[in-house]
Amino acid sequence: MRIFVPKETAPGEKRASVVPETAKKLAALGAEVAVETRIGASIYRSDTEYKNTGASVVDDRMAGLREADVVLRLRKPPIEEVAPLREGSVHISFLDAFNERDLIEQFAAAKVSAISMEMIPRTSIAQKMDALSSQRSLAGYLAVILAAEELDRIFPMMITPAGTIQPARVFVIGVGVAGLQAIATAKRLGARVEAFDTRPAVEEQVRSLGARFVKVELGETGQTEQGYAKALTEEQLAAQRDVMAKHCSLSDVVVTTAQVFGQKAPLLVTTKMVEQMRPGSVVFDLAVEAGGNVECAALDKVVEVNGVRVFGYANMPSRAPTPASEMYSNNLGNFVEHLWNKERNSMVIDAADELLRGCLITHGGEVVNETIKAHYHL
Ligand code: NAI
Repeated sequence: MRIFVPKETAPGEKRASVVPETAKKLAALGAEVAVETRIGASIYRSDTEYKNTGASVVDDRMAGLREADVVLRLRKPPIEEVAPLREGSVHISFLDAFNERDLIEQFAAAKVSAISMEMIPRTSIAQKMDALSSQRSLAGYLAVILAAEELDRIFPMMITPAGTIQPARVFVIGVGVAGLQAIATAKRLGARVEAFDTRPAVEEQVRSLGARFVKVELGETGQTEQGYAKALTEEQLAAQRDVMAKHCSLSDVVVTTAQVFGQKAPLLVTTKMVEQMRPGSVVFDLAVEAGGNVECAALDKVVEVNGVRVFGYANMPSRAPTPASEMYSNNLGNFVEHLWNKERNSMVIDAADELLRGCLITHGGEVVNETIKAHYHL
């Protein structure tokens, strides 16, 4: 069974989907591994390191794609790279399936089994394959580190003969994987941290990190069976923004991470709320790629409003490309291992597999994923 790993080609993408350690693991399973030349260049891993695992390094990307039984990558593929794939082959990557109907249909037409990494169920058994978590924890860390550098103040309290410096105040809105890591990082740097999430289970987690949980009376909020937040009503969102406004105005750093699975991110911080913040403070919108939590945030831009800078950086994990690649690559390696059938010495797509039921999008020439079918009314 031949696995091909193309180099990532999206502008600015520094991550590699497979590191040499994973190439070695895949070879040990029994796969024949091929990677594209310079696949690890941006994480300082040479072609020789890949060759030393037994992988072949190929120059001809299109030939690699055409000949593969399995293609592993990180970002969704350019649509023109789907048709050349072999009928019956498997393609594993992030797919952005809720927004990429043409791409999904192209996979079905090419009779390729497309697996979406962001749709892997958030269950205990799938934790080691959970690429959303591995990447978002880095994003949460990086947002706070970058905010600490950009802020006009410092994070920790300092008592000096020249006076006492008060700790920075950090407010984290949305406490999933990224939010928890943002809180932990800000606490380690000495900030005073507050946080809010609509899922009731989060309060305890926030407290256990030594941060203060902000209470908002919203009525029924709850979470889905998968553990995701449910979308709030417009009235609930308005009530939430009222409370957030006060806490934002008292904060030096606001980090927003709130998302609702499969939907546009909720608008939680209006431009008026940003205007009421102290000049010199900073806002990081980590949901910007999903539509944004902050009204004035712009994708991959820094927007200044009355001296408050709002950061809408895309692809935060790529700013720490080595750990991001290592973790994503581990996620992929664990996933292939999960699907590997020893007797047949190959990867087997069993549509009844519990994990695959969540993340297999196309198979046998059709869109098979129930969530995606419902989303596109197929
Ligand atoms: P996410 O990226 O979908 O959303 C980030 C956070 O925003 C979530 O905590 C969500 O509750 C929150 N949110 C949504 N609307 C909000 C609003 N209006 N105001 C404030 N916060 C709002 O979440 P992520 O990080 O992907 O985690 C989703 C869930 O999956 C969580 O319950 C997490 O604990 C769970 N999880 C389970 C895992 C496992 O068991 N394998 C692994 C990772 C996550």
